[in-house]
Amino acid sequence: MPVATAPEQPGAKHNVQASRAAYYDRISKFHMAPLWEVLKDLVTKEPKTTLVPAAWKFADVKRLMLEAGDIISTDEAERRVLVLENPGLPGKSRITNSLFAGIQLILPGEIADVHRHTASAIRFVLEGDGAYTAVEGEKTMMRHGDFIITANWAPHDHGNPGKQPVMWLDVLDLPTIVHFETSFAEHFDEKMQKTNHADGDSFDRYASGVLPDGAPVHLNRSPVINYPYAKMRPILQRLKDTGDVDKRHGARVRYANPINGGPVLPTMGAYLSLLPKDFSGEPYRSTDGTVFAVAEGNGTTVIDGKTIEWTVNDVFVVPPWKRYQHKVAGADAVLFSISDRPAQEALGLWREGN
Ligand SMILES: [Fe+2]
Repeated sequence: MPVATAPEQPGAKHNVQASRAAYYDRISKFHMAPLWEVLKDLVTKEPKTTLVPAAWKFADVKRLMLEAGDIISTDEAERRVLVLENPGLPGKSRITNSLFAGIQLILPGEIADVHRHTASAIRFVLEGDGAYTAVEGEKTMMRHGDFIITANWAPHDHGNPGKQPVMWLDVLDLPTIVHFETSFAEHFDEKMQKTNHADGDSFDRYASGVLPDGAPVHLNRSPVINYPYAKMRPILQRLKDTGDVDKRHGARVRYANPINGGPVLPTMGAYLSLLPKDFSGEPYRSTDGTVFAVAEGNGTTVIDGKTIEWTVNDVFVVPPWKRYQHKVAGADAVLFSISDRPAQEALGLWREGN
């Protein structure tokens, strides 16, 4: 039998809302707030993001970077970098919620002084020859497609004794450091570090199947300073030639810490992927928002229904849990990618899907 209910009095709903609003106002004076008003936005069934897919065409980036070269010296700027800001988070100096990305330019004759900070950085070299990064006793030359690490608290400086402007993609875990409020930084009296290790020393020393006897076995980041493109590219070709091509990611290698096979840094992980000619990738998504840079070739990536066309040295970003598919029409293409996946995996948060 249906249970009779009393008819709602006119204005009752209004009275409830008004009394709740008055209550919220009262508790706000005690720095308290009702969870039930925000719960559904905090604990969502799936990741929600304000980040959007976005691309930076190198033709624009290069022109604007060279203008920056006229406007400010590296000496004045400390680092002449234009930040790649996600359009969904303007003014926040970040490309995803955990990663900073920027393009750095160093002109012939310039030096970017030695400093260090708790934020870890990677460089992916876009254009120009003749610049170097000095870190941990090694002065490594920077060439197109090289992947260079300056880890948490490692002193580093850059210089360009060459004849060409040199530009690279910087990616730092800076927003993560800001989130934890753990930023420390330090400058040194000297402009440049003294280096006594030959170019390529750390790669040969640690990534050749042997380790210096007594090398630490629990290092949580790679001791390799530079993973040169000239050494990585032939490995992609080998994978392609033997058919080791993932249907979503292509023929892909993960930059690894040669000590233990772990990620290169605890906060950031990177890949290099060859997408064979006529590759049409299956859809993929993961919880790590990912920054891509194009090392070779042309193609398109459809992200959450938005098509991004890319060519050499373009940069684009896929927000967390947005589905994407790579496509290549002409010759083989090579994509570099980086994300906060190691941090998410360490915390048990990382998920992937299709
Ligand atoms: Fe730095």
